[in-house]
Amino acid sequence: MNSRRLEGSVSVNKVDFAIIGGTGAFIGARTGEKLNNREKVEISTKYGKVILEIIEVGGTRVALLKRHGLNHSIPPHRINYRANIMALKMLGVKRILATAAVGSLNREFKPGDLVLLSDFIDFTWGRDITFFDEPGQEVIHVDMTNPYCLFLRSKLIDAAQDTGISLVSKGATYVCTQGPRFETPAEILIYKHLGADLVGMTSVPEVVLAREAEICYATAAIVTNYAAGISDNPLTHQEVLERMTMSSAKIYTLFSKAIKITDNNKLCSCQTAVSGQESLGG
Ligand code: HPA
Repeated sequence: MNSRRLEGSVSVNKVDFAIIGGTGAFIGARTGEKLNNREKVEISTKYGKVILEIIEVGGTRVALLKRHGLNHSIPPHRINYRANIMALKMLGVKRILATAAVGSLNREFKPGDLVLLSDFIDFTWGRDITFFDEPGQEVIHVDMTNPYCLFLRSKLIDAAQDTGISLVSKGATYVCTQGPRFETPAEILIYKHLGADLVGMTSVPEVVLAREAEICYATAAIVTNYAAGISDNPLTHQEVLERMTMSSAKIYTLFSKAIKITDNNKLCSCQTAVSGQESLGG
């Protein structure tokens, strides 16, 4: 047994794929898709309890996790990211397709656009950011050269082409803020100078924990607004929700296709991100 591997399993049949939905979590009545065989599952992890659904997407069983909770009652800084990713790991999930609402700092990314994230800058604080910090546990440093899985990103690009969905995939850097408030114009100006294109509150540490759990992870972000100071108007949560809702069906179609065309037996370096490392210990 490799002590770096995260342990645990559940008595639910294995699920290879997961979808993590954010604000306006997209799957449900709004998508117009009839979801058959929805199964609610409660998973107890060492970090806490997680409730998710197993749904059928084009004949494949997929775990659907709403990161803000079933009633959108968990703010970004209070999401139990470790429990969520651990629950998916325990289900046997190998690949996660995530979506998230983002504001745009770069006029090349417009409200309504679906954008594939390629990099992030982390301005969060006080969140539990690793699985590897227990007393006596080996220190692990995972590689973040490509924080969002290249293989899964290529599948999303293929899926967009196949379905005719417009997906901006030239590369976009996401800055993760602590929230739950929106940013000030001065903060947005700083983030823009640092190289951020998009801003949101939830991708970190979710993407990092997925890598530590050796799960491929990619995000198709939905641009809901221009960020503070770039937009002429004050930001409202309502506009974010409305844009997310408008993009729900597109995201569902994109993710369904990506799941369909992905060969799940194909290995990816994300899946050995920890176990493939040389031991730092003596
Ligand atoms: N800032 C932070 N998070 C967001 C935004 C924003 O402007 N829009 C959607 N999520």
